[in-house]
Amino acid sequence: MRLKDKVALLTAAAGAGIGQATARAMAREGAAVVVTDIHGDRARTVAAEIAGEYGARTLGLACDVTSVADVSRVVEATLAAFGRVDILFNNAGTNRPTRVVDITDEVWNLVLGTTLTGTFYCCRAVVPAMIGQNSGRIISVTSVAGFRGLAGGHAHYAAAKAGVMAFTRCLAMEVAPHRITANTIAPSFIFNEFIPHIYPQDEIDRMFEEIPYPRKGTPEDVANAALFLASDEGEYMTGQTLCVTGGSWMR
Ligand SMILES: NC(=O)c1ccc[n+]([C@@H]2O[C@H](COP(=O)([O-])OP(=O)(O)OC[C@H]3O[C@@H](n4cnc5c(N)ncnc54)[C@H](O)[C@@H]3O)[C@@H](O)[C@H]2O)c1
Repeated sequence: MRLKDKVALLTAAAGAGIGQATARAMAREGAAVVVTDIHGDRARTVAAEIAGEYGARTLGLACDVTSVADVSRVVEATLAAFGRVDILFNNAGTNRPTRVVDITDEVWNLVLGTTLTGTFYCCRAVVPAMIGQNSGRIISVTSVAGFRGLAGGHAHYAAAKAGVMAFTRCLAMEVAPHRITANTIAPSFIFNEFIPHIYPQDEIDRMFEEIPYPRKGTPEDVANAALFLASDEGEYMTGQTLCVTGGSWMR
């Protein structure tokens, strides 16, 4: 029960991957979890499942992180329901693999808007409550794409993830005096059942081949890193990027 009595607000937490796995891990460790996702029906279903499986206090809410109104509504709902917000897990991010010359303004704005601007909106909305509490943990999911060159049309995504890492370092400096930490987790390829809808099979095969460690990374591997950063054990770490990659960033 490493997160007993903590309140965690998670974005993009009703999908098949890292967000839901982290919501489950945090609930298992005793936190009340606010499961938000652009798909409100799925967020409510996942919140109900987590409440049933772990006996956790949960809330399931629709939230598109590109909407300032949605973000402030879920922060207000979290404070109304639980009175505080100890952990913000910024999981929302999206990719549309496209070569630079073919990236339309619409695709650029979707990827940057969800991944970078959405993270900013969520941080801006929770920090005042965390300052009021004199405590807080902000954890944002980035990617090794943020510091590696990658073929295959990831320039907009990589720029957005690098932006989240730079944003987080500066945020960490600003909020440290209030005992708030801000860190990022950079996974490499983490498989879930939805991945084949985003990436072509040859790209999936190539990403697996780059991983030295002899098994596939799972959403739970990333959730475990998030637990560490959210727990008492992670208190003195801030402005950092924790890589969960099976070693693939070295390649
Ligand atoms: N899966 C990987 O290989 C991998 C690798 C590195 C980084 N990441 C990052 O990890 C995070 C989670 O990815 P995942 O693949 O584990 O999937 P996930 O299941 O954790 O997240 C997908 C969810 O995001 C939601 N979503 C999409 N746009 C949204 C928006 N605007 N507002 C709110 N919710 C939105 C979807 O509805 C879906 O439920 C992302 O930021 C991704 O960029 C993933």
